Amino acid sequence: MARILLGVTGGIAAYKGLETARLAVKAGHAVRVVQTPESQRFVGAASFAAITGAPVLTSEFERDPARGAFPGQEPPAHDPASHLALVENADVLLIAPATANTIAKLAHGLADNLLTSAALAARCPVLVAPAMNDAMWEHAATRANVATLAARGVTIVDPGVGALGTLGEWGVGRLAEPAELLAAAERAVAVGTPPVPDAPHPAAPGPWDGRRVLVTAGGTREPIDAVRFVGNRSSGRMGFALAAAAADRGADVTVLAANVALARDPRVRYVDVATAAQLQAACLQEFPGCHVLLMSAAVADFRPIDVSDIKLKKTERTELTITMEPTDDILTALAGQRRPGQTLVGFAAETGDGAVAYGRGKLTRKGLDAVVVNDVAQPGIGFDTPDNEVTIVTATGDTHIARSDKAQIAAAILDTVDALGRGVPQLDPTPA
Ligand code: CTP
Repeated sequence: MARILLGVTGGIAAYKGLETARLAVKAGHAVRVVQTPESQRFVGAASFAAITGAPVLTSEFERDPARGAFPGQEPPAHDPASHLALVENADVLLIAPATANTIAKLAHGLADNLLTSAALAARCPVLVAPAMNDAMWEHAATRANVATLAARGVTIVDPGVGALGTLGEWGVGRLAEPAELLAAAERAVAVGTPPVPDAPHPAAPGPWDGRRVLVTAGGTREPIDAVRFVGNRSSGRMGFALAAAAADRGADVTVLAANVALARDPRVRYVDVATAAQLQAACLQEFPGCHVLLMSAAVADFRPIDVSDIKLKKTERTELTITMEPTDDILTALAGQRRPGQTLVGFAAETGDGAVAYGRGKLTRKGLDAVVVNDVAQPGIGFDTPDNEVTIVTATGDTHIARSDKAQIAAAILDTVDALGRGVPQLDPTPA
């Protein structure tokens, strides 16, 4: 059960806010709603109040009968400032629909109504689900505002393609469906607030302008006890090189970093994870909004079933058996929910003869566009080295990249993504 603060702004899709609130309440969540004044031209507060069983607020200057509390919460003895209390009590703030106007205000830190003030004060995860006419969505101002929010750690629930609010209009800009909005909010609660201490500087314009690239880097660690883990030798160098190369091309880059102790690129947003489960949760949150996924992290295939809270002692035992269970294959799961216009690149660290053939098997088995295969048995390449030598396998053939540094390998991988002709912003991911 989560406390979901739903922000509703003034667009025709506000009616989907009602269904989102209904689904959330049905799923057992406590929901409060803040509406912008304009949104009430589309949907009335009485409907939200009836669905959520809680007062709906529009202005900072109206008294909140629930004093900032969510259904099931004890209200404080005093009247708190609504914009602070609501986000302090919320596990997630979901703004759906978010108009171009509200997105612009959020990008610039304006606080001219209760919703924008609350968003500015939010320390919980914030999700923005845009809905607007396709021309407004594609306008450079909106693109820049959305990129600014994404770079600050706001999760953008991309609009889909379809019939738009005005009769006869069709295009991109349609609000994501309520079930998808709720699932995104639930994922955000599971993952928590993405840390954004490294406030990224936007990359300089380039050929990948407007493209959102998600990179996983490093190696997951699966705890055995309070101090030990099962891990692998991945340093994250390849993933960080990919992130830098994508930023060089002007992309908005997010790296999900699993235990990486390398210098960070100020143009890139980083989310740190430790285990395969945490990486999976972060991937599920970030993947729907990306155009290109570069899955270079070495993910544990198994994890210990019983994890001790305390450090295991060597006394009282002559041997130690650790029973492991399989982890989920994250990449296969993501490929299963891919949307048109997304490009998925997997990585396969193999050893010895048949490495490329194994890699090709993963292309079809995992439903990918490309697999980057490297033979980690060769000295001087692969794990924790500056160099690599890879074969990039796609449906149309293999490209061998002779031994070179990871920056050059990264550039070759991005060239392959270009050659695939997918992952371009015009082909924005479309909700199912
Ligand atoms: N991968 C994943 N989730 C896992 C294991 C791997 O998403 N639980 C991803 C890796 O990030 C990589 C690709 O799948 O991009 C291939 O990883 P690899 O370990 O080579 O593949 P496996 O399916 O684990 O195959 P095997 O261990 O049998 O070689």
